[in-house]
Amino acid sequence: MRWNLGLAYVAALLGCASESLAADTSVVRDGETGFTFSEFRAAYQIGLYITFRVAIPAPAPPNYDLVFQIIAPSAVGWTGLAWGASMVNNPLTIGWASGNTPVASVRRTSIRTQPQIYDGAKLQLLKTGTKVNGTHWQITAKCSGCSSFATTGSNTKSLNPAGSNRLAFAYSKNRPNSASSAAVLSVHEVYNYWDHDFSTAGNIDFDQLVQRNS
Ligand code: HEM
Ligand SMILES: *[C@@H]1O[C@H](CO)[C@@H](O)[C@H](O)[C@H]1NC(C)=O
Repeated sequence: MRWNLGLAYVAALLGCASESLAADTSVVRDGETGFTFSEFRAAYQIGLYITFRVAIPAPAPPNYDLVFQIIAPSAVGWTGLAWGASMVNNPLTIGWASGNTPVASVRRTSIRTQPQIYDGAKLQLLKTGTKVNGTHWQITAKCSGCSSFATTGSNTKSLNPAGSNRLAFAYSKNRPNSASSAAVLSVHEVYNYWDHDFSTAGNIDFDQLVQRNS
């Protein structure tokens, strides 16, 4: 009886903690690119992770550009970040490896079928930090249009540079069969959500770092 109460008490505490504003991310400085990122490690299978990192300018102007990094084990066919934490009505930034070529694509959809190319957000791949090696593929890209975007009707969503933002990812084991950003994506096996702290993702020298890594 005491044991059961103990567990309930711990569960209640955990419930409380996950409902607070605490984010699911930690801060890393990437030695290769020089960006300070806040990062989330997303489990896509038990014990296997895709790393999603976000860097923003400090201070962040309205509709700020951001830099994101995806670090995925080779076995990841494609993975994508949903900036509005939903499959629908927000920019989806997808990455995969086509042989030794890392590929990125921005998609969008209003229904849960294959998202099509979206030109309302623009990506610039940064040369440093974008690569394929024997164990991983990695993308580092600047996105214009990922921090603020139209959702439905005349609504706009803007991600808070000073707090946590709900994001989502999706994972598929199936690799798209070309290096075209319009390549066919097969449906994901896994998706999930997290709270990404943007307040720790600030970079005073954001523009210089973009330049230096281009
Ligand atoms: C061929 C491509 C895709 C197909 C056919 C597809 C289909 C679907 C379907 C049917 C669901 C509902 C699942 C359920 O209710 O159990 C779903 C959910 C979801 N998908 Fe996709 N999807 C595709 C690509 C993507 C991409 C590229 C992303 C990018 C991140 C994504 C993110 C999500 C998320 C986050 C959900 C959870 C529901 C939501 O938050 O809207 N999907 N998808
Ligand atoms: C391959 O890339 C991953 C991701 O960037 C990195 O962690 C790993 O150290 C690299 N492996 C080698 C052998 O360079």
